[in-house]
Amino acid sequence: MTDSTISFLDPEVQKCPYGAYRELRKDGPVYFDESCGFYMVFGYDEIRQITADPATFSSVTGLLLVKDTGEQEHLNKVFEEHGFLPVNTLVVADPPIHTFHRSLVDKAFNAIALKRMEAFLEITVGRIVDQFLGKGGGDFYTDVAAILPSYVIADQMGFSSDDFEKFRTWTDAVVAEANPNNTPAEQLEITRTICDLHQHISEKADYFLLNPRPCLLSDMVHADVDGQRLTRQELVSIFVILIAGAHDTTTSSLCSALYRLAKDRELQDRLRENSTLITKFVEEVLRFDSPVAGLFRRATCDTMIGEIPIAKDSLLMIRYGAANRDPKMFEHPDTFNIDRTNASRHLSFGSGPHTCVGNLLARAELRIAVANMLKKTREIRLKDGEASVSWLTQFIVYGPNRLELAFSPA
Ligand code: HEM
Repeated sequence: MTDSTISFLDPEVQKCPYGAYRELRKDGPVYFDESCGFYMVFGYDEIRQITADPATFSSVTGLLLVKDTGEQEHLNKVFEEHGFLPVNTLVVADPPIHTFHRSLVDKAFNAIALKRMEAFLEITVGRIVDQFLGKGGGDFYTDVAAILPSYVIADQMGFSSDDFEKFRTWTDAVVAEANPNNTPAEQLEITRTICDLHQHISEKADYFLLNPRPCLLSDMVHADVDGQRLTRQELVSIFVILIAGAHDTTTSSLCSALYRLAKDRELQDRLRENSTLITKFVEEVLRFDSPVAGLFRRATCDTMIGEIPIAKDSLLMIRYGAANRDPKMFEHPDTFNIDRTNASRHLSFGSGPHTCVGNLLARAELRIAVANMLKKTREIRLKDGEASVSWLTQFIVYGPNRLELAFSPA
């Protein structure tokens, strides 16, 4: 029997859930967490089954956005009067709406756009890393990892570098919106800031309609599927979700990558000697330290996951982090090993129709940031051993939220 005292509400389990996965997996790939009141799915195959079938396992769970009914009604009024009422899109939508929105986003996120983003990254990462190293290191989370994802999206929305700091205020509000601990007053303030962002997106969209330029927002203003374009309300909601999806995830994986490097001098030297291994390193970081610990689905009918019956309306949390350590899929899953041949089959970007829109961009951010840090240093180390790191305590995103680094320059 497994240890029935394990709860995913426990901050220690949230900081490092891997021991809990090992223990609970002994009883099978699906576990009902009494303290949370929903199922946790740990198995690689089972998660692929769920994510491939949005008709049975819906992404419209209401859980990521909705506050209590009275408060939500008030916030919706503020959105209607000062911005745009959010619509369910992408990560919180099902077909056919999801399919329509996703086709438009995929058109804009094409190979040309990715090249453009990589060119921006080469310059911007270089500048941010130089600043970080120039001041003798410090908290990599605050000084590098939490800045970069926001700047990339700001650039892709046509904001100039003068506006990047203002854009960070909006990013912070979008990220903070999902925090269940906000007081009603805080939530109202956040909603007003997001309305300000809505207005700016809409003004830029008006401008790009007449003056197209090479950026995602402009491309999406002009994109259509069979002649159908996005309404302004849909466009604004999609960009808010892009900002939210890009931020904590990339920040967390950048920190995990630097944490793994800082702990292993030999690995650093290997990657400095042969930079083509950086791609393998990045995939193993994504597998080993899945930035998205898990996300929700709701069963739309009575169904089965493998042998396990699941009743209609049951809530499930699919734990991507657990799938990435499933011993049926990855040999010695709890060993960090950049030489494993199947690391890139991790589920850190999900799978099925909701597979991460930004996965190639995120991979590029990781590769370029790691290459920059390695090139400009002889050694990277944790400033004060394990005391240099703090870990997030929440359900959805996993990883460090403080990472004090020291280094010897190249
Ligand atoms: C290391 C960084 C990232 C990780 C680990 C990550 C992870 C994920 C995961 C697991 C999903 C699947 C959601 C589901 O199953 O319901 C997803 C979807 C999504 N991601 Fe990412 N993501 C990252 C970076 C980004 C970036 C940079 C962007 C935007 C530029 C982005 C935008 C999105 C969007 C819009 C979706 C929803 C796609 C849909 O529902 O069709 N993500 N991401």
